[in-house]
Amino acid sequence: MEKENKKIAIGADHAGFELKEKIKNVLHEMGYEVVDLGTNSTDSVDYPLIAKSVATHVAGKNPDKGILICGTGIGMSIAANKVRGIIAANCYDAETAKLSRQHNNSNILTLGGRTTTFDTAKDIVKVWLETDFEGGRHQRRIQEIRDLEKK
Ligand code: RB5
Repeated sequence: MEKENKKIAIGADHAGFELKEKIKNVLHEMGYEVVDLGTNSTDSVDYPLIAKSVATHVAGKNPDKGILICGTGIGMSIAANKVRGIIAANCYDAETAKLSRQHNNSNILTLGGRTTTFDTAKDIVKVWLETDFEGGRHQRRIQEIRDLEKK
């Protein structure tokens, strides 16, 4: 991938802030431009507000991928998936990260700052960014999800 295309949005609540800062370094090392949409401290903040910000950017393809981190990654995935066009996947190892790209075409990765170590998170992020969607039968299933959004 060309460097100019390597851009990603990131956000976290207070429980994900420390992991966010470490993952930003990983992304910079990988050559990504990182759009950091907060939070910027461990002061308590409501995760749906951060999820909305990152998900809105990603739904508008500006940029087209994002990472969200809260305590478990669960709240961020629930909130981000409310935004039309978002497929947020809460991944806990490299295998789930790979499959969430190959089969689900996830455009937001969510991580648990309290449940995932930095080393595991680093592996997850690398695999997630380097794995392509397989299309084929999976494209039909993604379309079926899009159809649900219209209801
Ligand atoms: C915050 O305490 C915690 O609830 C939040 O980070 C997240 O884990 C929610 O799913």
